[in-house]
Amino acid sequence: MHLSDEEKAMYDGRDGPAVQKAMDLLVRYGEALGAERLVETRNVCATITSTTPFQRDFAQTRGGMDAVFSEFSLDSPEVVPIPKFKVFTSHLQLGFDPGQPERMGIDTQTLQFYERSERHAAGLGAQIMNTCTPYQVGNVPTRGEHCAWMESSAVVYCNSVLGARTNTEGRESCGAAMLTARIPDWGYHRDENRHATHLVELDVEVESVQDWGLLGYFIGEQVQSGVPVVHRRGGDIGRAPNLPRLKHFGAAAASSGGVELFHLVGITPEAPTLEHALGGKKPMEVLRYGPAERRAAYERLNTTAREAEIQYVMLGCPHYTIEQIWEAAQLLEGRRLHADVQLWIFTPRAIKALADRSGHTRIIEEAGGVLMTDSCSAMSRAVPPGTRAVALDSAKQAHYLPAILGVQAWFGSTAECIEAACTGRWQGGLK
Ligand code: F3S
Repeated sequence: MHLSDEEKAMYDGRDGPAVQKAMDLLVRYGEALGAERLVETRNVCATITSTTPFQRDFAQTRGGMDAVFSEFSLDSPEVVPIPKFKVFTSHLQLGFDPGQPERMGIDTQTLQFYERSERHAAGLGAQIMNTCTPYQVGNVPTRGEHCAWMESSAVVYCNSVLGARTNTEGRESCGAAMLTARIPDWGYHRDENRHATHLVELDVEVESVQDWGLLGYFIGEQVQSGVPVVHRRGGDIGRAPNLPRLKHFGAAAASSGGVELFHLVGITPEAPTLEHALGGKKPMEVLRYGPAERRAAYERLNTTAREAEIQYVMLGCPHYTIEQIWEAAQLLEGRRLHADVQLWIFTPRAIKALADRSGHTRIIEEAGGVLMTDSCSAMSRAVPPGTRAVALDSAKQAHYLPAILGVQAWFGSTAECIEAACTGRWQGGLK
């Protein structure tokens, strides 16, 4: 791999042992991928803090938080002192909401260790955003900007909607990027890999958040790790999808498949035309998405659902925007949840502060719901005790939650989920 003089100096130890280990990791990682060089990044988004009893014991016996960072973020069994990050770094979601330890089944020791870990990460320079949607709370990279991000739903949004460039990185490569401002130049950092491989012809209206989730779920299943471009023959896609629609679409495609980049003709930045998105090449495959494909995606998402009685409604995957919280609060205003149902809504901490000030949190709580942060049920493996059936408005959460916790999942619109929360019964259906 070719290294610049600056990179060679870091590799040779000029900036201390942690940076040296980070460069060594990046060179090994890049060479394994066939990268010929590193690219500069000013934006890292990763899991940094520690939440497990194993990591707590590791810190106690091996040398504190530097030992945890060395092992889990630099892949170094040797403990090295960790300097401040060189790069703007945001923290992603974690395995529980520290503001709701009882609900999430977290003991005091684990909570205290997490808080110590959060202080350590903040001390190194991390922004404690604690969300899978950093792009809605201040981390908004620009078109062409090279990033090092983890979290599939954030990666696909970063690449596709913002036109920035990242692969789906891991904790270790992101840890190395924080200390060096470098990441291997391969995959979606390079122009030649950003053109569409699969063409999806729309033959049905795609309007609601639920519609965009269904389309994303269909596309992910079909193209797997390909790059889809969505197009309507002889017309445009329709009303431009807003942030919640694009967020749900990308998250669904990254769940049923491994989509890290998509193009919507006339909407996303690298698809002003179909020809441009395809880079002048023919697609490997042309897919049609019509009413039958839409219904099939809906039925697959509801395959685990059997009982109409539900015990739990979870909203906020990916983390809810303020607009979605406002909509949920409007649907809940003046109503009460059914006595046997719990409603948890997940959002970033910064958005919760806004919801508190805007009065939405009060409406949700008066109805009997809870606004939570930092995590979600799939990440935390936490649902209210006694949950057998869950109502969800997220294709991603409906894909993962039955597999992770063995619960039944009903997938539908936000309004159907709120109705289920207030009546205790699922009455949704594909319109
Ligand atoms: Fe975020 Fe959890 Fe969904 S971390 S994308 S809310 S699975």
